[in-house]
Amino acid sequence: MQLRPSNSALRRRLALVALAGFSAFPALAQDSSKYVNKLAPYVSSPAKVVDRMLELANIHPGETVYDLGCGDGRILIEAAQKYKAKAVGIEISPKVAAEARAHVKKAGLSQRVQVIEGDLLQADLTGADVVTIYLATSLNEELRPRLEKFLKPGARVVSHDYAVPGWKPTEVVEAEGRQKHRIYLYEMPPVKQ
Ligand SMILES: C[S@@+](CC[C@H](N)C(=O)[O-])C[C@H]1O[C@@H](n2cnc3c(N)ncnc32)[C@H](O)[C@@H]1O
Repeated sequence: MQLRPSNSALRRRLALVALAGFSAFPALAQDSSKYVNKLAPYVSSPAKVVDRMLELANIHPGETVYDLGCGDGRILIEAAQKYKAKAVGIEISPKVAAEARAHVKKAGLSQRVQVIEGDLLQADLTGADVVTIYLATSLNEELRPRLEKFLKPGARVVSHDYAVPGWKPTEVVEAEGRQKHRIYLYEMPPVKQ
Protein backbone atom coordinates (compact mmCIF):
# COMPACT_ATOMS: atom_id res chain seq x y z
CA MET A 1 0.00 0.00 0.00
CA GLN A 2 1.35 3.45 -0.86
CA LEU A 3 0.47 5.93 1.81
CA ARG A 4 1.54 9.52 2.19
CA PRO A 5 3.52 10.07 5.37
CA SER A 6 0.99 12.31 7.11
CA ASN A 7 -1.30 10.54 9.54
CA SER A 8 -4.98 11.05 8.83
CA ALA A 9 -7.47 8.87 10.62
CA LEU A 10 -8.07 6.91 7.45
CA ARG A 11 -4.40 6.21 6.92
CA ARG A 12 -4.07 5.02 10.50
CA ARG A 13 -7.08 2.80 10.05
CA LEU A 14 -5.80 1.42 6.77
CA ALA A 15 -2.54 0.53 8.47
CA LEU A 16 -4.45 -1.10 11.30
CA VAL A 17 -6.54 -3.07 8.87
CA ALA A 18 -3.44 -4.24 7.07
CA LEU A 19 -1.93 -5.33 10.36
CA ALA A 20 -4.96 -6.73 12.09
CA GLY A 21 -7.49 -7.73 9.48
CA PHE A 22 -10.98 -6.39 10.16
CA SER A 23 -10.66 -6.18 13.91
CA ALA A 24 -10.09 -2.40 13.69
CA PHE A 25 -13.55 -2.12 12.07
CA PRO A 26 -16.02 -3.97 14.26
CA ALA A 27 -18.94 -2.97 12.03
CA LEU A 28 -17.29 -4.58 9.06
CA ALA A 29 -16.06 -7.55 11.04
CA GLN A 30 -19.69 -8.56 11.47
CA ASP A 31 -20.42 -8.08 7.80
CA SER A 32 -21.35 -10.76 5.31
CA SER A 33 -18.76 -13.33 4.23
CA LYS A 34 -19.08 -11.93 0.68
CA TYR A 35 -17.16 -8.89 1.89
CA VAL A 36 -13.69 -9.00 0.40
CA ASN A 37 -12.42 -5.43 0.71
CA LYS A 38 -9.27 -4.93 2.71
CA LEU A 39 -8.02 -1.80 0.98
CA ALA A 40 -10.68 0.82 1.46
CA PRO A 41 -12.56 0.50 4.72
CA TYR A 42 -15.84 2.22 5.43
CA VAL A 43 -14.83 5.72 6.50
CA SER A 44 -17.13 8.51 5.37
CA SER A 45 -15.95 11.74 3.80
CA PRO A 46 -16.82 14.63 6.14
CA ALA A 47 -19.62 16.93 4.93
CA LYS A 48 -17.24 19.80 4.13
CA VAL A 49 -15.13 17.50 1.99
CA VAL A 50 -18.20 16.18 0.16
CA ASP A 51 -19.26 19.78 -0.53
CA ARG A 52 -15.84 20.64 -1.94
CA MET A 53 -15.56 17.43 -3.99
CA LEU A 54 -18.87 18.05 -5.70
CA GLU A 55 -18.15 21.73 -6.21
CA LEU A 56 -14.87 20.82 -7.93
CA ALA A 57 -16.67 18.29 -10.13
CA ASN A 58 -18.71 21.11 -11.70
CA ILE A 59 -21.83 18.97 -12.04
CA HIS A 60 -24.60 20.06 -14.41
CA PRO A 61 -28.25 19.13 -13.82
CA GLY A 62 -29.06 15.76 -15.34
CA GLU A 63 -25.45 14.55 -15.36
CA THR A 64 -24.64 11.17 -13.87
CA VAL A 65 -22.37 10.88 -10.85
CA TYR A 66 -20.89 7.56 -9.77
CA ASP A 67 -19.50 7.14 -6.27
CA LEU A 68 -17.31 4.04 -6.34
CA GLY A 69 -17.39 2.58 -2.86
CA CYS A 70 -20.35 4.74 -1.90
CA GLY A 71 -20.39 4.06 1.84
CA ASP A 72 -23.52 5.50 3.43
CA GLY A 73 -24.56 7.25 0.22
CA ARG A 74 -23.86 10.82 1.34
CA ILE A 75 -22.13 11.82 -1.92
CA LEU A 76 -24.96 10.37 -4.00
CA ILE A 77 -27.57 12.20 -1.96
CA GLU A 78 -25.83 15.58 -2.15
CA ALA A 79 -25.19 15.18 -5.88
CA ALA A 80 -28.90 14.50 -6.45
CA GLN A 81 -30.25 17.09 -4.02
CA LYS A 82 -27.93 20.02 -4.61
CA TYR A 83 -26.92 19.47 -8.24
CA LYS A 84 -30.01 17.66 -9.59
CA ALA A 85 -27.78 14.88 -10.85
CA LYS A 86 -28.57 11.23 -11.31
CA ALA A 87 -26.35 9.22 -9.04
CA VAL A 88 -25.15 5.64 -8.89
CA GLY A 89 -23.26 4.13 -5.98
CA ILE A 90 -21.32 0.89 -6.12
CA GLU A 91 -20.69 -0.67 -2.75
CA ILE A 92 -19.17 -4.06 -2.03
CA SER A 93 -20.42 -4.43 1.51
CA PRO A 94 -24.02 -5.68 1.63
CA LYS A 95 -24.53 -4.10 5.02
CA VAL A 96 -23.20 -0.71 3.96
CA ALA A 97 -25.08 -0.84 0.64
CA ALA A 98 -28.31 -1.48 2.57
CA GLU A 99 -27.54 1.51 4.78
CA ALA A 100 -26.97 3.71 1.72
CA ARG A 101 -30.25 2.53 0.16
CA ALA A 102 -32.11 3.34 3.37
CA HIS A 103 -30.66 6.87 3.38
CA VAL A 104 -31.57 7.38 -0.26
CA LYS A 105 -35.12 6.20 0.40
CA LYS A 106 -35.45 8.44 3.44
CA ALA A 107 -34.31 11.40 1.34
CA GLY A 108 -37.01 10.56 -1.23
CA LEU A 109 -34.43 10.14 -3.99
CA SER A 110 -34.98 6.53 -5.05
CA GLN A 111 -36.04 7.68 -8.55
CA ARG A 112 -32.71 9.35 -9.25
CA VAL A 113 -30.25 7.51 -7.04
CA GLN A 114 -29.36 3.87 -7.39
CA VAL A 115 -27.13 1.84 -5.08
CA ILE A 116 -25.64 -1.28 -6.62
CA GLU A 117 -24.12 -3.92 -4.40
CA GLY A 118 -20.98 -5.06 -6.18
CA ASP A 119 -17.31 -4.68 -6.88
CA LEU A 120 -16.25 -1.32 -8.28
CA LEU A 121 -13.51 -3.08 -10.24
CA GLN A 122 -16.25 -4.83 -12.24
CA ALA A 123 -18.53 -1.84 -12.71
CA ASP A 124 -19.68 -0.59 -16.10
CA LEU A 125 -19.06 3.16 -15.94
CA THR A 126 -20.17 4.00 -19.47
CA GLY A 127 -22.74 6.64 -18.50
CA ALA A 128 -20.65 8.45 -15.91
CA ASP A 129 -20.00 12.18 -16.25
CA VAL A 130 -18.41 12.36 -12.82
CA VAL A 131 -16.79 9.66 -10.70
CA THR A 132 -15.98 10.21 -7.05
CA ILE A 133 -13.66 7.97 -5.06
CA TYR A 134 -12.27 7.71 -1.56
CA LEU A 135 -10.15 4.61 -1.85
CA ALA A 136 -6.57 3.60 -1.18
CA THR A 137 -3.88 4.43 -3.73
CA SER A 138 -3.44 0.80 -4.68
CA LEU A 139 -7.15 0.45 -5.41
CA ASN A 140 -7.05 3.66 -7.46
CA GLU A 141 -4.21 2.13 -9.43
CA GLU A 142 -6.25 -1.00 -10.15
CA LEU A 143 -9.25 1.11 -11.06
CA ARG A 144 -7.41 3.45 -13.44
CA PRO A 145 -7.54 1.24 -16.59
CA ARG A 146 -11.28 0.89 -16.10
CA LEU A 147 -11.77 4.64 -15.82
CA GLU A 148 -9.67 5.11 -18.95
CA LYS A 149 -11.73 2.48 -20.77
CA PHE A 150 -15.19 3.71 -19.84
CA LEU A 151 -15.07 7.44 -19.23
CA LYS A 152 -15.77 9.85 -22.04
CA PRO A 153 -13.62 12.88 -22.83
CA GLY A 154 -14.45 15.68 -20.40
CA ALA A 155 -15.63 13.34 -17.63
CA ARG A 156 -14.31 14.29 -14.20
CA VAL A 157 -12.83 12.09 -11.50
CA VAL A 158 -12.62 13.51 -8.00
CA SER A 159 -10.59 11.65 -5.43
CA HIS A 160 -10.53 12.28 -1.72
CA ASP A 161 -7.07 12.09 -0.15
CA TYR A 162 -5.54 9.54 -2.54
CA ALA A 163 -4.11 10.36 -5.95
CA VAL A 164 -4.63 8.20 -8.99
CA PRO A 165 -1.10 6.99 -9.80
CA GLY A 166 0.02 7.88 -13.31
CA TRP A 167 -2.51 10.68 -13.80
CA LYS A 168 -1.80 14.39 -13.59
CA PRO A 169 -4.49 16.23 -11.63
CA THR A 170 -6.10 19.33 -13.12
CA GLU A 171 -6.41 20.71 -9.62
CA VAL A 172 -5.50 19.72 -6.07
CA VAL A 173 -7.21 21.51 -3.20
CA GLU A 174 -7.15 21.18 0.54
CA ALA A 175 -10.36 21.11 2.50
CA GLU A 176 -10.18 21.97 6.16
CA GLY A 177 -12.03 19.93 8.70
CA ARG A 178 -10.86 18.47 11.98
CA GLN A 179 -7.87 17.54 9.89
CA LYS A 180 -6.59 18.47 6.44
CA HIS A 181 -8.08 16.64 3.49
CA ARG A 182 -6.68 16.74 0.00
CA ILE A 183 -8.95 16.53 -3.02
CA TYR A 184 -7.69 15.64 -6.49
CA LEU A 185 -9.60 16.63 -9.61
CA TYR A 186 -8.87 14.87 -12.90
CA GLU A 187 -10.44 15.54 -16.27
CA MET A 188 -10.50 12.92 -18.97
CA PRO A 189 -8.59 14.27 -21.96
CA PRO A 190 -10.17 14.76 -25.39
CA VAL A 191 -8.29 11.75 -26.70
CA LYS A 192 -8.43 8.74 -24.40
CA GLN A 193 -5.25 8.08 -22.42
C1 LIG B 1 -13.42 5.24 2.53
S1 LIG B 1 -15.07 4.63 2.20
C2 LIG B 1 -15.75 5.97 1.25
C3 LIG B 1 -17.26 6.08 1.34
C4 LIG B 1 -17.85 7.25 0.54
N1 LIG B 1 -17.46 7.19 -0.85
C5 LIG B 1 -17.45 8.58 1.12
O1 LIG B 1 -16.54 9.23 0.55
O2 LIG B 1 -18.00 8.97 2.16
C6 LIG B 1 -14.73 3.39 0.98
C7 LIG B 1 -15.91 2.51 0.65
O3 LIG B 1 -15.55 1.69 -0.45
C8 LIG B 1 -16.12 0.40 -0.28
N2 LIG B 1 -15.32 -0.51 -1.10
C9 LIG B 1 -14.06 -0.94 -0.88
N3 LIG B 1 -13.65 -1.76 -1.85
C10 LIG B 1 -14.68 -1.84 -2.73
C11 LIG B 1 -14.87 -2.53 -3.96
N4 LIG B 1 -13.92 -3.30 -4.48
N5 LIG B 1 -16.05 -2.38 -4.61
C12 LIG B 1 -17.04 -1.58 -4.09
N6 LIG B 1 -16.91 -0.92 -2.92
C13 LIG B 1 -15.76 -1.04 -2.25
C14 LIG B 1 -16.02 0.19 1.23
O4 LIG B 1 -16.93 -0.80 1.68
C15 LIG B 1 -16.35 1.58 1.76
O5 LIG B 1 -17.73 1.74 1.99
